[in-house]
Amino acid sequence: MSEIILEAKDIFKSFYKTKEQKLNILKGVSLQVVRGKISIIVGASGAGKSTLLHILSGLDNADSGEVKLNGTDISNLSDEKLSSLRNQKIGFVFQFHHLLPEFVAAENIAIPLMINGEPKQKALQRAEELLELVGLSDRANHKPSELSGGEQQRVAVARALANNPDIIFADEPTGNLDSANSELLHKLFVELKEKLGITFLVVTHNPQLVNLGDKVFEMKDGVIH
Ligand SMILES: Nc1ncnc2c1ncn2[C@@H]1O[C@H](COP(=O)(O)OP(=O)(O)O)[C@@H](O)[C@H]1O
Ligand SMILES: [Mg+2]
Repeated sequence: MSEIILEAKDIFKSFYKTKEQKLNILKGVSLQVVRGKISIIVGASGAGKSTLLHILSGLDNADSGEVKLNGTDISNLSDEKLSSLRNQKIGFVFQFHHLLPEFVAAENIAIPLMINGEPKQKALQRAEELLELVGLSDRANHKPSELSGGEQQRVAVARALANNPDIIFADEPTGNLDSANSELLHKLFVELKEKLGITFLVVTHNPQLVNLGDKVFEMKDGVIH
């Protein structure tokens, strides 16, 4: 039996372009994400994919609708509860790695753990383990500027994994990578799914990554098909 880890029901979201001009972006999006699988969201630029991902991961609020993660309705949680949920259950990978330029790879992974109360030495040890998992043990002491784009993105994946999340949200994670590095990242996602049972929800235009998906959602005209 496949278990649903994330469920969205009838999500609406609009933005005001000007005081009078309202943009209706999400017009009743519903979807179910199966635990331990790779789910993909495709759709044209401006379709609202990033907006949806932000709402599903508790980074933004919907105007209406319901989001359930692990059976918990996150649509009406306090900011404090949401941020603790994000720290514990959710990992993010964005198109741009957002690594801190002044710090080496291991520190970039350890710092969020330390912010969550982990002692420095333990956090750095965990960072080393995670770098090994993403195949970058030998890059632990390099700053982001000394890493290739693909390596930077794999450090970002290691950072996303630091808190043992149930689900990783990735927004066009290969959007900035060449095909060889994209393929490495795809293999890593599949390996993490198979080894650790991590669930992925990935927005992508990359046909190869779409092919790896266990499930593909298409966003069009404000809904999911
Ligand atoms: N904070 C915001 N304020 C106003 N408009 C926004 C905001 N965020 C996104 N939009 C608009 O919503 C639409 C969908 O954006 P987005 O979710 O980023 O699309 P996608 O990720 O599919 O390219 C776009 O027209 C964008 O300009
Ligand atoms: Mg986007």
